[in-house]
Amino acid sequence: MKILITGNMGYIGPCVADQLRRVYPDAALIGYDIGYFAHCLTGAATLPETRIDQQYFGDMRNINPGILKGVDAVVHLAAISNDPMGNSFEKVTKDINDESSAHLARLAKQAGVARFVFASSCSMYGFAEGGPRKEDDALNPLTAYARSKVATEKTLHELATKDFVVTSLRFATACGMSERLRLDLVLNDFVAGAVAAQQITILSDGTPWRPLIHIEDMARAIEWAVGRELSNGGAFLAVNTGSNEWNYQVKDLAYAVAKVIPDVSVSINKNAQPDKRSYQVDFSLFRQLAPRHQPKVDLVGAIQGLKAGLERMRFADGNFRNSQFMRLKVLTQLREIGALDEQLRWSPRRTALSGTLEQRV
Ligand SMILES: NC(=O)c1ccc[n+]([C@@H]2O[C@H](COP(=O)([O-])OP(=O)(O)OC[C@H]3O[C@@H](n4cnc5c(N)ncnc54)[C@H](O)[C@@H]3O)[C@@H](O)[C@H]2O)c1
Repeated sequence: MKILITGNMGYIGPCVADQLRRVYPDAALIGYDIGYFAHCLTGAATLPETRIDQQYFGDMRNINPGILKGVDAVVHLAAISNDPMGNSFEKVTKDINDESSAHLARLAKQAGVARFVFASSCSMYGFAEGGPRKEDDALNPLTAYARSKVATEKTLHELATKDFVVTSLRFATACGMSERLRLDLVLNDFVAGAVAAQQITILSDGTPWRPLIHIEDMARAIEWAVGRELSNGGAFLAVNTGSNEWNYQVKDLAYAVAKVIPDVSVSINKNAQPDKRSYQVDFSLFRQLAPRHQPKVDLVGAIQGLKAGLERMRFADGNFRNSQFMRLKVLTQLREIGALDEQLRWSPRRTALSGTLEQRV
């Protein structure tokens, strides 16, 4: 078996590769990534990519179709992967997330790939009142990022057949420790604030609903989708991926962190404009279709795992919202030093401008 993982050098990718390796020990695991965050390691002893069989550096926008030869399953993670980046790089987000995903899926189908797993997002529900959202409820994508996920799902739906079985996992917001940690995610941000400064600062009024999922549980869901039978959900399946127990209001997450990490104060921005992104999600379909791949990590376990990981790194940066753990900051900095052009392509002239980055990537 041969599995191609795009975007494997991000936050979730290393965990996904490890889970696939555990369940398919003889599979050839191939990675494909442009390497925006390749240098953003958080105390990993070795490069996570040394645990896969082959790593390609390349841009989804001009992927070589030859890479798909003999591939049985594609796990498609590569993306401009959150709202802040999508807002700053709107056209690029459309090009990479939507158009390149469609192109990859067509190439994969032509190449005889049998399973295609897409990392979609519950953010496509946008602002949703009236109870937890189900898969066939109306979508309300509010951002370029969310719109790109909706557009890709539409294309994948059209392409899916019994020989090209597509699973679009509409993930809740991720959390948890990773070898390429992100602190631009709500729970990770709160734990980082608590560890570094004994302070949790909620930027909103704390009331928005946000379903969460741990990255280990995301990886297990992806592994399920790689092996999903046609009879279990059909040729195209879009499924909310998380658990009904993990629908939280942002303020509840902050108080949960303060309970695990003592002597932490929580501040809420009572004057904040209402956050338009608020949704509860119904994960019953995922429970029904994947009973043996249900999320296992609980909230206290997720908080403790992050705390332990941050302490291992001797994390003490109270100003982390301006650090390399924020994806938008990394892209902005790479733009500023001329390493990336306005299309977020690596600049061929970057050697003179940023020798160290050149070496790292
Ligand atoms: N983190 C979350 O909360 C969350 C929730 C739901 C869905 N997802 C989705 O899961 C996937 C992975 O998320 P993540 O948190 O690991 O994101 P990430 O930003 O950490 O990783 C994405 C990876 O894609 C790569 N990439 C971007 N553009 C590329 C291009 N043109 N060519 C090749 N590679 C490219 C980046 O270099 C990066 O390594 C994304 O599709 C994201 O939208 C994430």
